[in-house]
Order: sequence, then structure tokens, then C-alpha cells
Amino acid sequence: MSEANKKRILIAISGGIAAYKTAELVRKLKKDDFEVRVCMSRAACEFITPLTMQALSGNPVHTDLLDPTAEAGMGHIELARWADMIMIAPASANIMAKLAHGIADDLTTTLCLASEAPLHLAPAMNRIMWQNPATRANAELLAERGITLHGPASGEQACGESGAGRMLEAAELADIIRRQFATNNRNNNNDDDDDDENDSDDDKVLSNPLENKQVLITAGPTREAIDPVRFISNRSSGKMGYALAEAARDLGAHVTLISGPVALEAPQGVTVLAVESAQEMHQKALQQAQSADIFIATAAVSDYAPKQQATQKIKKQAQEITLELTQNPDILSDVSRQYPSLFTVGFAAETEKLIKHAEDKLKRKKLDMIVANPVGDNQGFDQDTNQVEIIWDQGQLSLPEQAKSALAKEIMQIVSQRFANHPILV
Ligand code: CTP
Repeated sequence: MSEANKKRILIAISGGIAAYKTAELVRKLKKDDFEVRVCMSRAACEFITPLTMQALSGNPVHTDLLDPTAEAGMGHIELARWADMIMIAPASANIMAKLAHGIADDLTTTLCLASEAPLHLAPAMNRIMWQNPATRANAELLAERGITLHGPASGEQACGESGAGRMLEAAELADIIRRQFATNNRNNNNDDDDDDENDSDDDKVLSNPLENKQVLITAGPTREAIDPVRFISNRSSGKMGYALAEAARDLGAHVTLISGPVALEAPQGVTVLAVESAQEMHQKALQQAQSADIFIATAAVSDYAPKQQATQKIKKQAQEITLELTQNPDILSDVSRQYPSLFTVGFAAETEKLIKHAEDKLKRKKLDMIVANPVGDNQGFDQDTNQVEIIWDQGQLSLPEQAKSALAKEIMQIVSQRFANHPILV
């Protein structure tokens, strides 16, 4: 690839032991033909040397805001303009706090304020610092402003504790960066041959189709009360919906997750609205869909609910009792009918005739796309992996069995492409 066509990634390293992983990230990005420049905070230089990063990136490393030699060459404003994307890895609690409040007291924070490039953060810190309400509020604020946070992951930490706070691995971050550009390239194929002198702006990362879009997702099971202590429900864990919410958030979307009762943590930067019954989920979904661009229904909504709810616990009496059930509203059908311009995606969990049943649902529920997955025999529900067929009016695609988190990223990439191509009804 010619130097001029290479995508330009600015990697900013803040103070944290995870900085050693950033060396590997830079090596991977160079191997993938990205142009990489690195800036480091003073604390970062205590963990890893600028010389290492210079050798790996092939460019001088930027460390000072007011370094006369640097300002004469590529100063902070040039660097801010130069970047197609900024990735802060590791992003410490301190830099997140500074970014959230617009503080510009060193090179990285000043660059971020002065740049229009998409800003991505890979947080890394002690788990208690990550859980601290101040850090959580800063993370929320950054996510609301369209800054994308990746991770942190959970596991053993350098400080000897275990929990959420580990920076994502170099391979995961490299993959995230590659995908950002892959999406943009696919959407801008026509620009590729354009060697017009003015194409430097076109060459920049163009916002991806989900950037700042409102994505509404239903997830988990519903609970249909029989009496104050009993209910009808199903085996849905909510993992797929939660993984999709994270994937959509990582693509720059503002995500609202309407969730039935699950044992999962609310994903960072995602608004979670907790519900119990199908009726509650129906009411919330119709209300939230008003401001959504994309609706993804992954919830395993109970098709039926007890006709009557006993107000007191039902006592054991007769040998046999009959529970009368009545059909619940179809949330997905109602949303797609009431908001025809919304891009709607359904899920079809089937034990047999996967494709046929999914195609029927695609038509019957007036959807733009359906994701069909086999369930039963230890497949689908409550599992960590899944395998799916994605079907739309003129296409179909199989995604092999893989972790739900990886699958969710692939599904969101496809949703994002189909969404970019779908006609807007007015
Ligand atoms: N769905 C919904 N509201 C319902 C039932 C289903 O929003 N009351 C959504 C699910 O979230 C999923 C899709 O519709 O995206 C298909 O769900 P599924 O249970 O497979 O479809 P049903 O219409 O209930 O068909 P059946 O149970 O007969 O297979």
C-alpha cells in the first residue's frame, strides 16, 4: 500500500502496567500496514521506554506538549489532524477523568481535545478503581459523547487482585481497529480509486453506519407471574443480547437494552431498562422505539401468560389443577408495524426446520433481517457459544459456531452494512 493510502493510527499510552501490551499492539498494526505514531504520558514512560515504541512504530515518539523540536516538526495540532483514529491504550482512570472534564494539561489530553478523529479507549486499572462511582460516571459521560470504550476484561490483575480492569489483549485491540476501517472501506469502495488531490478528507475514517445511531435491543427471558412467588419463564440467559449491545456500543451506537431478569452485569455505556413480564417489555419497547434507528429483538419472550394472577400464594389442594394461559403481544411484530422505517432484526430459535421457520418469521413479522439459531440438545439457550444463519430478503449467510461475544461482533457488522443500505421510508 502506498504511504499516502495507509490509515493513520495515533496510539496514546497513559500510565499503567498494561502498557507492555501496547508494544505488541503497535507491532501488529505495523504488520497490518497501518501508519502508526505513538504519544506517551510521563507516567507511561516509567512503564515502557519511548525507544521501544519508536523502534516498533518506525516513527519518533511524542512525549511533550511544549517540546520546541517536536513543535517545529509535527506539533500537537498537526498530530491531532494527522490521525484517522486515536486509540488510548491503556487508558488510566486519571486520563478518563481528564477527558470527561475537558482537561488539557499534557500532550495526549490536548491532542484529544484538538482532534476530530474517532477516539477509542482501552481502559486498564485496578478493579476497585474501575468500579469507583467517579470512574463509572466518567466512563458513562465519555460513552454518551460518542467516545468508544473497549473493555476492560475481567481476570487476574497485575496488582494481584481479580476482577474487571484488565486491558484487552493486543490481538483484540488490533482486531477492533481493523474492523473500524473494514466497515468504512466497504461503505466507501467508490472512493478508493479516486486520486484527486483533495481526497485527503475522504481518506479519513468516515463515520461508520452505527456511529451515534440509537440501537434498541430486547434481551433475556420474560417472567409471567402465576402468583406472588411463582412464574413461567424459560432458559434464556440474555448473553446474546448483552453481547450485541456491547458490539453495537463498540461501533459507536447509543444502545438501550430492555432486559428481562438475567444474571449479567450491565454493559458499560449501555442504558439498561429492567423489566419482568412480556407486557412490560412490550410497553417499554414501543415507547423506546420512537427514538430508535435499529431494533434488535433477542428476548425469549414468553408466548403465553397466566390468564389470571393470584394475588395470594396458591395453596396445594386438588390433585390436578389447570392453568389457563392467554397469548402475550408480539413485541417485534408490533414494533415493526408501528415504526415501518425502523431497521428491525429478529432472532429465531428453532429446534427443527431452521431456515423455513426463520423465513416465515422474516415475512410474517415484516423484518429487515432475521438471525436463526438451532436450540435444544445443548445448543443455543444458556450456552456460551452459538452458530447462526442470517437471512434477509435477498441473501443468506452462515456464521460458524463461536463464542457469543465474537458472534455478536460479526452480526453487528452485518447489521451495520445492511442498515447502511436499507431504504429509509418517510
Ligand atoms: N418475539 C417478540 N415478542 C413475542 C415473541 C417473539 O418480540 N411475543 C421476538 C423474539 O424476540 C424474536 C422473534 O420474535 O426476535 C422470534 O421469536 P420466536 O419465539 O422464535 O417466535 P414466535 O413468533 O414466538 O414463534 P414460535 O414461538 O411459534 O416459534
